[in-house]
Amino acid sequence: MELTIEDLRLEAKRNVPKPFYDYLHSGSWTESTKRSNHDDLQQITFRQKVAVDMSNRSLATTMVGQEVTMPVALAPVGFTGMQHARGEILAAQAAEEFGVPFTLSTMSICSIEDVAANTAKPFWFQLYFMKDREFMDDLLRRAREAKCHALVVTLDLQMEGLRYTDYLDGFAGNDWGPKLSSAVSLAMHPTWGIEMLMGGKYNFGNLVGHAKGLKGMLDVQEWVGNQFDQTLSFKELDWIRDRWPGKIILKGIIDPTDAIRARDWGADAILVSNHGGRQLDGAPSTIQALGPIVDAIGGSNTEIFMDSGIRSGQDVLRAIATGAKATFIGRAFNYGLGAHGKAGVTRALEIIQKDLDMSMAFCGERDIKNVGRHNLFASPYLKNLDGGETQQV
Ligand code: FNR
Repeated sequence: MELTIEDLRLEAKRNVPKPFYDYLHSGSWTESTKRSNHDDLQQITFRQKVAVDMSNRSLATTMVGQEVTMPVALAPVGFTGMQHARGEILAAQAAEEFGVPFTLSTMSICSIEDVAANTAKPFWFQLYFMKDREFMDDLLRRAREAKCHALVVTLDLQMEGLRYTDYLDGFAGNDWGPKLSSAVSLAMHPTWGIEMLMGGKYNFGNLVGHAKGLKGMLDVQEWVGNQFDQTLSFKELDWIRDRWPGKIILKGIIDPTDAIRARDWGADAILVSNHGGRQLDGAPSTIQALGPIVDAIGGSNTEIFMDSGIRSGQDVLRAIATGAKATFIGRAFNYGLGAHGKAGVTRALEIIQKDLDMSMAFCGERDIKNVGRHNLFASPYLKNLDGGETQQV
């Protein structure tokens, strides 16, 4: 049984054909932002307390009004259904049983309806802002009909960052399409292939059969590439609000001035995210960006979440102590999925939960809602926090 997310990653690497593993694992350009997302988190140290009552602990909180058993949601990850057959359905089921939100990507393999038909509680839906408003209108209708609780609107992908492995594996570039090396890798992973064949016919279910001019999987890359709307502005977001009565989370914010614009626009939450280091390489890590954003809009009605680089419960605790209300994980649960399907997603959540619970206890806290900057011994990313000074957020 795997003890860490890294163990799950190594197992996923063995099980999943290389092009799909690479797609999940990679970042953009030199991958420096992807690396710093995780490395920067490790620079933060906790204040350990002794001889304090640490019994009866609770990780329960809320995210945009929804009760969660711990402050960790599953992030929208395109192609999740290629890490394991029926991947989105399995991950949504694991999240539902665990009591945390699952966010379905616009770029999922299983559709909104597929996930809704195989789960009992509302999941969340992520929207990319596309040029084809008729298609978006219909997508929002489908998400409303599936009773999705929250809409995650991704703002940091008006064009795709340059991810070299996607070019090498045939997922991007002018010579998009299956490569011989990919075919060899598929042939070397028969179990994955058999499960895919047995799993049923899923095919970018949010797009194919709904978007005009899109016939099948091989058209998706070109269609999507042409559809991201580079003219997006906050004013345009009103168009979405007119069609979405539920909660709205704006994803991809890493600058305090954008956080202020999101708050003033009336976002229920923002997700401080650099897309897991897949968009602007050279952008700050999210833990670096988080502190100034909390200082700019903390205490308002807009909740602050963070993702990118989280691989343990300690990383979650670092984000919460810095001022995030909750976090999202992307690769971590997909590694679990690639390793063991639904059981692997559950395992990823268990690893993070146990680690978060124990670390919180060592910091002398019994309720995650009380965690704050006073639990940090040192953080290079926060002003006025040095050497154990007691700080309240
Ligand atoms: C993503 N992410 C993403 N975000 C989004 O809004 N829609 C999407 O379809 C995708 N697709 C996607 C694919 C892959 C392979 C990855 C790794 C990420 C970003 C995702 O929601 C989240 O922000 C990051 O995954 C967080 O970083 P970690 O946890 O993966 O380090």
